[in-house]
Amino acid sequence: VVDIRKLYGQTGAFTYDPGFTSTASCESELTFIDGGEGVLLHRGYPIEQLAEQSSFMEVAHLLLRGELPTADEYADFNNTITRHTMVHEQLRGFYQGFRRDAHPMAIMCGVVGALSAFYHDSTDINDPAQRMIASHRLVAKMPTIAAMAYKYSIGQPFVYPDNELSYTGNFLRMTFGVPAEEYEVNPAIEKAMDRIFILHADHEQNASTSTVRLAGSSGANPFACIAAGIACLWGPAHGGANEAALNMLKEIGHPDRIPEYIKRAKDKDDPFRLMGFGHRVYKNYDPRASVMQETVREVFDTLKVKDPVFEVALQLEEMALNDPYFIDKKLFPNVDFYSGIILSAIGFPTSMFTVLFALARTVGWVAQWNEMISDPGQRIGRPRQLYTGPAKRDFVPIDKR
Ligand code: ACO
Repeated sequence: VVDIRKLYGQTGAFTYDPGFTSTASCESELTFIDGGEGVLLHRGYPIEQLAEQSSFMEVAHLLLRGELPTADEYADFNNTITRHTMVHEQLRGFYQGFRRDAHPMAIMCGVVGALSAFYHDSTDINDPAQRMIASHRLVAKMPTIAAMAYKYSIGQPFVYPDNELSYTGNFLRMTFGVPAEEYEVNPAIEKAMDRIFILHADHEQNASTSTVRLAGSSGANPFACIAAGIACLWGPAHGGANEAALNMLKEIGHPDRIPEYIKRAKDKDDPFRLMGFGHRVYKNYDPRASVMQETVREVFDTLKVKDPVFEVALQLEEMALNDPYFIDKKLFPNVDFYSGIILSAIGFPTSMFTVLFALARTVGWVAQWNEMISDPGQRIGRPRQLYTGPAKRDFVPIDKR
């Protein structure tokens, strides 16, 4: 057998790291994770403190601008984001091209990718001012675009942003307002939703963020890069896990059936996995999952509801965490395990869950993209491969094969 690499003089060494389990692709100042200890920091601030004490707009400022804002900076940033919440009127027509039963993530991929066709004045990636405008536009328009995807799917008229409301209050009104003028934002739900956005804001070099960086490394415009991130996030092993986790919990239906599902998850011949469990980096409790669990309780108290699915989730967690398989493999609940339960209680259909994740993660994606473009050492991302195909051979005409 001829070693084709040697034949072509490819003798240099490179690392082979499927899934990039131990390859750093960049330097970043944004987010630190200690997976062993279950620690998540954004520019040094623990996620628990941010979730408890700050707002999503403060976290967005922290990620995009580098520091938590002063009161004046906060007002200014809010004002800037608010100015960009409207979408181009012609974009409304774009939605009509989708089937009503289209998955809202399909609509998100299409509409966000199309933004570059509407905002030509913020696609020059070499101009820091244009980059910042594109970032503001993306963060500001995402709730409008997401709410429109929802309204379209249920056949209701689109609701325009009300810029007197907070970022999150505005999103809730655009989503649930029927008629919008009579919709009153419930402050407890607004707070819970805002916290969910904080918990999803950034998570260093996960698959979708790496996709955004890789797409951006070629010089692609920011709207196209974020659309690429949305497409990657959609998968059930990533952002799609919250939808899959709730579907699984509903399918389990009763605590008595949990052992059957745990047994399946441990069976090597069964592809089934406990959705919302396990993480590439966390080998301890995902700190976002603890905050999420607390938030479920708060939302249920506010709405005065009980959901048997929450009981199933709590018991499933307890059983899994005491099972040698999950202990040995260090599999703990991740952020997606409880989020679906809250989102469902607030009134979102499961198909919107990943859309909400994309909405919140947009600020992380644009912050990471900006960081990459600003790095003077930035080069196009170009992973290598281990070629395992045939050695060089001669072409055989079709009648001789
Ligand atoms: N249920 C049962 N077994 C699991 C699970 C699970 N949820 N997750 C991992 N395992 C097992 C695997 O079968 C594997 O076993 P093996 O070593 O005997 O082959 C071992 O644990 C390691 O799993 P990998 O798939 O190699 O781990 P990886 O780091 O590649 O994957 C992932 C991480 C994708 C999150 C995985 O744990 C998973 O599929 N979880 C369910 C989906 C999910 O919740 N995704 C959300 C992730 S968080 C986020 O995106 C916001």
